[in-house]
Amino acid sequence: MKNEKQNKKLDQLESHSNSNENEKLTTNQGLKINNNQDSLKAGDRGPTLLEDFILREKITHFDHERIPERVVHARGSGAHGVFKLSKSLARYTKAKFLSEPGKETPVFVRFSTVAGSRGSTDLARDVRGFAVKFYTEEGNYDLVGNNMPVFFIQDAIKFPDLIHAVKPEPDNEMPQAASAHDTFWDFISLMPESIHMIMWLMSDRAIPRSLRMMEGFGVHSFKFINEEGKVHFVKFHFKPKLGVHSVAWDEAQKISGADPDFHRRDLWEAIENGDFPEWDFGVQLIPEEDEHQFDFDLLDPTKIVPEEEVPVQIIGTLTLNRNPDNFFAETEQIAFHPGHIIPGIDFSNDPLLQGRLFSYTDTQLSRLGSPNFHEIPINRSLNTVHNNQRDGHMRQQIVKGKTSYEPNSIGGGCPFQAMMSEGGFTSHQERVSGEKVRKRSRSFVDHYSQAKLFYNSQSAPEQRHLQNALIFELSKVTIPEIRERLVGQLAFINKDLAKKVAVKIGVQVKKLKYPNQSLPADSNKE
Ligand code: HEM
Repeated sequence: MKNEKQNKKLDQLESHSNSNENEKLTTNQGLKINNNQDSLKAGDRGPTLLEDFILREKITHFDHERIPERVVHARGSGAHGVFKLSKSLARYTKAKFLSEPGKETPVFVRFSTVAGSRGSTDLARDVRGFAVKFYTEEGNYDLVGNNMPVFFIQDAIKFPDLIHAVKPEPDNEMPQAASAHDTFWDFISLMPESIHMIMWLMSDRAIPRSLRMMEGFGVHSFKFINEEGKVHFVKFHFKPKLGVHSVAWDEAQKISGADPDFHRRDLWEAIENGDFPEWDFGVQLIPEEDEHQFDFDLLDPTKIVPEEEVPVQIIGTLTLNRNPDNFFAETEQIAFHPGHIIPGIDFSNDPLLQGRLFSYTDTQLSRLGSPNFHEIPINRSLNTVHNNQRDGHMRQQIVKGKTSYEPNSIGGGCPFQAMMSEGGFTSHQERVSGEKVRKRSRSFVDHYSQAKLFYNSQSAPEQRHLQNALIFELSKVTIPEIRERLVGQLAFINKDLAKKVAVKIGVQVKKLKYPNQSLPADSNKE
């Protein structure tokens, strides 16, 4: 039995759906097929004829069934649901889906691991993606977050290197696991800014008990803009109503062997059984004038805003209440993008976010193969799309009229830009000044304070798990200098932690220069 909650997005998808129940086979041209077992041959035992268009069509389509997997976050599971607002944020943002308490917005959520391929195990030690597409009345809004509140790097220019280091090695495509290998730890040991994220990654947070039991974070600071143009920085949080739970490493390894689909199955079955997963959706709000009140930079994605300093205000509930009908059509073809925003929400100048704004459409052009991927049903906005873009591979919309350009004095069916008074998106007008430079802000250089905070916040058993994770991971590293460099980084966080790990992996705790002048990756920057 399917537990379905209808919403506008599901209605829209229904018009693209098709059931084969009690139907007869046809070709793609709609021709009935009365023999699906034998190809057309010259005589009973003769060769197959090229003329057999039924065989050719079937095999040709099969030959092209696969599309490239996502370059990261390839392994994922998704579900439909709804976001219900409980508290108006109209004081802070003009986003309509955040203004009226009680308002419901359809969503599709995709959870993922980052490093493994599409067929890899669910229980790898890894970050989990937590991507939400809100189908709002003002267009699609995507919150493309993770289950950890910080990230490995501060600048998008390092992302391909990070991913090349964490992905299986290029010569032998090993290992599939997220982190246990030389290249990953080499990169990390040379990248002190990643050490806060490494504390999260080595903690129990990196092996959730269930996708229903993990938090979600927008990670970057974004901006809310209200009707008067007033700006607040905002950090987004999803908090699972079931609480945050993890499995221990030993359990994870056993479960991975017995059922690599453990998380996927758990999510699917919970929804099928009507046990709908729920999250509180919350925000941390910081008035624009308080931007520089912290001892870290709000634009630095390796930092959290401590909840003791800025409490999370819960503003609504995210509920997943319906499984997809077709994994490929929905979960695989969905295209999230942190650049899909709506009026009342804007980007900050976080240099990681700024790079992401380029990456997603670019990669999706190659993954989905056509500039018309917004027309795939799961990606369609609830609003009808009107613009002068035209043609391209696989165009679905049949736009009537003679013209497709603007300005335009003859009409001919082309859509025209709206008046400012009619709404639409206007970028927040921000004063920016400075020299064009390729360097990191000095406000981004404290890599250890929050890593320390995180480590100290862990209970004794959690700290032990974290130590054991580091020992396990680093014991797989074959190059002693890498182990040593990483232990040197740990010493800046906690000397006892560094010592315990060092003893077990057979290296000394050597003193590195603080903060990081001795490290090649940073040597010419500070
Ligand atoms: C997926 C790039 C940082 C969360 C992806 C994809 C790319 C990408 C190319 C595949 C998209 C697709 O094929 O549809 C980048 C770059 C980053 C970056 C260049 C940094 C410069 C981040 C960060 C987060 C994040 C900081 C979390 C806040 C995700 C998620 C997905 C994803 C959740 C999977 C979306 C889905 O389920 O389809 N990223 N990413 N990424 N990224 Fe990032």
